[in-house]
Amino acid sequence: MRMYDIIAKKRDGMELTGDEIEFWVKGYTNGTIPDYQISALLMAIFLKGMSKREIVDLTMSMVESGEILDLSNISGIKVDKHSTGGVGDKTTLVLGPLVASAGVPVAKMSGRGLGHTGGTIDKLESIPGFNTQIDQKKFIDCVNKVGIAIVGQTGNLVPADKKIYALRDVTATVNNIPLIASSIMSKKIAAGSDAILLDVKTGSGAFMKDVDTAFELAREMVEIGMGVGKDVIAVISDMDQPLGYAVGNSLEVMEAIDTLKGTGPQDLTDLCLTLGAYMLILSKKVHSVEEGKVILNEKLQSGEALQKLSQLIESQGGAKAVINNYNLFPQAKYIVDVHSATEGYISHIDSEKIGIASLVSGAGRVTKESSIDLSAGIVLNKKLGDNVAKNEALATIYTNNESKINEIAGLILTSYRITGEPVQANNLIYGVVDKNGMQKF
Ligand code: URA
Repeated sequence: MRMYDIIAKKRDGMELTGDEIEFWVKGYTNGTIPDYQISALLMAIFLKGMSKREIVDLTMSMVESGEILDLSNISGIKVDKHSTGGVGDKTTLVLGPLVASAGVPVAKMSGRGLGHTGGTIDKLESIPGFNTQIDQKKFIDCVNKVGIAIVGQTGNLVPADKKIYALRDVTATVNNIPLIASSIMSKKIAAGSDAILLDVKTGSGAFMKDVDTAFELAREMVEIGMGVGKDVIAVISDMDQPLGYAVGNSLEVMEAIDTLKGTGPQDLTDLCLTLGAYMLILSKKVHSVEEGKVILNEKLQSGEALQKLSQLIESQGGAKAVINNYNLFPQAKYIVDVHSATEGYISHIDSEKIGIASLVSGAGRVTKESSIDLSAGIVLNKKLGDNVAKNEALATIYTNNESKINEIAGLILTSYRITGEPVQANNLIYGVVDKNGMQKF
């Protein structure tokens, strides 16, 4: 087989065989096929697309490029959850303990943040002592003991995706549904769970800016699941404004704790109840979303979900006292309100810009090597549809870098649009895709 022929075949719009896909994925991962040939192929795929069969073959070739996590020592149906990423998305911190308290084993591998979106691992590391780098044996022991563990990637999972994604990033081939769907699903399949719940975000803070493209990505990922025998449900949810109010690592953990105490933001609470209900369906504990929500609401009200977070923190070496004493989190030196110049109703929030404001405050990474300030970030005071008075605070900046305060304030002010007319806030959930098809709400 020659790489030249594979590139030419895709350039001419033809379907690659499973063997051809395996050949280039293997060859690129082990270094026998050079960057310039894979760059050409990725661009041909970008322009000509891939059939459903090719997408499944690409996903599985990537899965087989590395280790597949063995979770068979954990009893019960393991349901993984993945969000396509957003600003202020602290869902895993609420959802993990919530569904674990309802008896679903949560063995979750999460990532670090890069650019304007945050990562669960960074957020957890703002809890003093919390160890996200435990080995696979301890990871499985923690899930068996307390029902939940959340760690950074262990083992050599999907090395092909790491190399291919890095190349896509510099060849303008990231934004392509077959490549995104196979990239995400390869990592989820290699992470070893029995079923997968996907939270596909859409809006100004998301990868998928429009709702139709988000549905298309969701459908592709559900179909990959069907092609490899995994039960997958995708929920399409709003990211046209940050989720909740807090953006930034320790600030988001505090908001997640508030949510588990029953005093969190409404959008975050509602989203977690819905996503959690679908996870209960995937784990075959309930038959309907309504039934799932009743159980999860009980777990919130009774304090069992909060207790599960406390057990998670303790089993991974963290200070569970943070739950009742937020002063134990890293604290920012400068806390500055940003005031509205006009009165009216909030008609738009550029979530990506809020994410960038948080990054400039110190909460995010510009490159993989950057260190982050766990205390930094932004807390919004106003969300879509809210009324704001002149000189009222739109948001509060938390930072240790005094010289950046004006820049951050400028980013926040230009993120908000304010009108004189009352504004209807967006739907939180646009629909669901599962093996039975697409349901738009
Ligand atoms: N997230 C991923 O993991 N892969 C992509 O290709 C895009 C977003």
